[in-house]
Amino acid sequence: MVADKKQPTSIVIFGGTGDLAKRKLFPAFYNLFLDGWMPDNFHILALGRKDFDNDTFREYIKKNINEFSRVKITSDEQWEVFSDKISFFNFNINEEASFQELNERLEDIDADINERSNRLFYLSIAPNFIDAISQNIKKFGLAEQSATDRIIIEKPFGHNKTSAIELNDMLSRTFKEEQIYRIDHYLGKETVQNILAFRFGNALFEPLWNRNYIESIQITVAEEVGVEDRGGYYETSGALRDMIQNHLLQMLCMVAMEPPTSFTSEEIRNRKVDVLKAIRRIKPEEVNHYTVRGQYAEGWVKGNKVPRYRDENGVSPTSNTETFAALKFYIDNWRWQGIPFYLRTGKRMQEKHSSITIEFKPVAHSAFSGANNLSPNRLIINIQPEMDILLRFMTKKPGLDMKLKAAEMVFDYFECSPQTPEAYETLLLDALDGDTTLFMRSDQVEEAWDVISTIMDVWEDENADLPNYQAGSWGPEAAEALLARQGHAWTSNTHYKNK
Ligand code: BG6
Repeated sequence: MVADKKQPTSIVIFGGTGDLAKRKLFPAFYNLFLDGWMPDNFHILALGRKDFDNDTFREYIKKNINEFSRVKITSDEQWEVFSDKISFFNFNINEEASFQELNERLEDIDADINERSNRLFYLSIAPNFIDAISQNIKKFGLAEQSATDRIIIEKPFGHNKTSAIELNDMLSRTFKEEQIYRIDHYLGKETVQNILAFRFGNALFEPLWNRNYIESIQITVAEEVGVEDRGGYYETSGALRDMIQNHLLQMLCMVAMEPPTSFTSEEIRNRKVDVLKAIRRIKPEEVNHYTVRGQYAEGWVKGNKVPRYRDENGVSPTSNTETFAALKFYIDNWRWQGIPFYLRTGKRMQEKHSSITIEFKPVAHSAFSGANNLSPNRLIINIQPEMDILLRFMTKKPGLDMKLKAAEMVFDYFECSPQTPEAYETLLLDALDGDTTLFMRSDQVEEAWDVISTIMDVWEDENADLPNYQAGSWGPEAAEALLARQGHAWTSNTHYKNK
């Protein structure tokens, strides 16, 4: 059910003074407010342990919005209206008294507007607090209205399949599945959502979207940044858990899923989970054949010298954690049998760049002379920072003789809309509206852990020769070899303006 967008809503942010709230959540709420998407009556209660009162907290949020929001604060009047709806509450998760007081505050908000508002609880805290919060929400009856009270949970959602199942069981003691919004922020990105529009809004590509016409599919999410100040977390995670289990597998699902019969949340999520179930599980003895892991050594990124991973804050000098992962998957179903899906992600790569490349099969027979090398047709979906779709095809080079060259047709998002909403705006609005389509259902999360579980185990048990790629490169050489043995290659520089 999609709830009325204008229903009064109390938003409670656990971790209200944290990094995510500062950089993403408050800027997103502010933009939704400016664009008229927020309910007329809403209140944001930020919970945290820092020494703020309402006024100093609002000033802090103002500063953050001006630093991180895509739209800055230009009108004092608008800011007054927005900031009036924010309050700070010094909260101790380990104390029941804090929950008791939270209950009273929520009741006061409702009493003020003479109506029970919808409730949206945002958990932007370390995973070990989820249990206490969930239990106390139940104990104090804070989310009893299952149609309109919701909880948003940030990743990591568990550490492996077993812990994800435990977490799901634990949450199910307080919430119904339709109240739980597990965030994968990649699903809120415009270009990722556009994959569905592109695939299922056009008749042109669907007949070609299968093993008969497609040679291979690759998905890259490359980052320039290292682990920044998250070394402690990253040591327990690594690229496989941090990026592949969620963001890259979700993109793979959108590219590979069967056409949905409707755009309802359950239908879309059913079709995606079908893909996860069909991904062939890699056996322990096959892990080294189908996967490559890497860790960055010191190097240069965009002219700056950067340290090796093992010298980052919070990282062990003998760490075996991977900062790069490349994998080859097969999907055992009718549509995709035998077609390799290559996934690659890494930190401290040459440039920030995420894209999906669909490479079509070569022509069956080339009638052109030897000098004319035909490059295969490619459809490239650039996710970020460039946001475009490119279709590469062969054309005749203008001139008197028959020479061919590759050309590209481009759809560029920035040219039609320079101001696209941030992923968190989309996702928060959907949560306010009660639309779970872009959020992970329990079975999706569990299945995604299952896909990588053998790889995690083997990588944990076997030491690799790390570090094995220089910061500022495209990762270890073995990642090139993973594709080269089938005559494929990563497409790294996919933006048309770079050609
Ligand atoms: C997060 C990961 O989920 O995604 C980070 O934990 C990563 O390690 C980030 O840097 C990348 O997100 P984006 O939106 O910057 O591509």
